Amino acid sequence: LRALILVGGYGTRLRPLTLSRPKPLVEFANKPILLHQIEALVDAGVTEVILAVSYRAEQMEQELTEEANKLGINIIFSHESEPLGTAGPLALAKDILVKSTKPFFVLNSDIICDFPFRELAKFHASHGKEGTIVVTRVEEPSKYGVVVYDKENCISSFIEKPQEFISNKINAGLYILNPSVLSRIELRPTSIEKEVFPSIAADRHLYAFELQGFWMDVGQPKDFLTGMCLYLKHLRTSNPAKLYKGCGVVGNVLVDPTAKIGTNCQIGPNVIIGPGVVIEDGVCIKRSTILEGVTIRSNSWLESCIIGWRCSVGRWVRMEGITVLGEDVIVKDETYINGGQVLPHKNIAASVPEPQIIM
Ligand code: GDD
Ligand code: MG
Repeated sequence: LRALILVGGYGTRLRPLTLSRPKPLVEFANKPILLHQIEALVDAGVTEVILAVSYRAEQMEQELTEEANKLGINIIFSHESEPLGTAGPLALAKDILVKSTKPFFVLNSDIICDFPFRELAKFHASHGKEGTIVVTRVEEPSKYGVVVYDKENCISSFIEKPQEFISNKINAGLYILNPSVLSRIELRPTSIEKEVFPSIAADRHLYAFELQGFWMDVGQPKDFLTGMCLYLKHLRTSNPAKLYKGCGVVGNVLVDPTAKIGTNCQIGPNVIIGPGVVIEDGVCIKRSTILEGVTIRSNSWLESCIIGWRCSVGRWVRMEGITVLGEDVIVKDETYINGGQVLPHKNIAASVPEPQIIM
């Protein structure tokens, strides 16, 4: 079995993290987002993964070739010289995808869920049509692709980012497609959501597979943190042994074994702490991800933050309101940061009481 993962976007909504690492390599729960996906694909019997890349390909090639060897699979990098959108990359990889008559998986690279690849393949085979897309239900469908389907799950319309409410069933960004779909796609920048799916749906060849369990597109900070909470909650039932049980922990928390946590801390609920992180005494962290190599000095208080790689947060600092620090930011003692993004390698010496981008 084969899969193609769309990893070409610029990831602008996840800045400043994506200024240092391409979005699919940003660690979610201490593992690159892309690896969550690849491991789930391998579990479902995929042996060849095509990564459709258009931006910062070198870094991805280096890191993922190693991982592919570990997993015993083949990763092929399909390079675009110009961004081909979400459908063009399928045309570019056509020669590889038609090597087999079997259907292949297609994934957006920023999706986290309990990946249902086996069940998806089964359902797809059962209806015998050209394509199946995974759908999930959301509160605010306007920032997604919305689908309407009948009792047999045959999709009658697919509308990308509708202005008006149509339905709250949305495209979860995971598909299984027959090779015949490739004859519908030209080699040029094309949107699968705006051009290809509506036409397959019009031919009544597109089906919906309803996802059970949690789902999140973690491509922006607010959703990254929400996705983190959902993931941890899922871990509590699926693999509770992985959760941290040290002193001062509250609720669902994941801590890399190489991280060090001081005394009198309150860690959680909903916190992920990466490798090599040092947390001094009396620190309180809630609903945040702390990436590799960060130091947080004593008595600081963090809520709803993503702290980038190798940042250094001083003593008695308070940070909240979806604050995202880029790589290697230094925050001075007693500073207050109330939301916003700090670009990599900055020094914050004065408080930032209103959310803003600090360059
Ligand atoms: N190779 C390649 N080339 N990949 C690309 C390109 C490109 O030119 N442009 C975007 N991508 C990749 C992104 O990296 C991402 O993995 C995927 O295509 C979708 O792009 P996003 O920018 O994340 O789209 P979105 O989140 O606004 O909407 C998409 O995802 C929603 C679910 O999260 C759509 O598929 C919606 O229909 C869907 O509901
Ligand atoms: Mg997205």
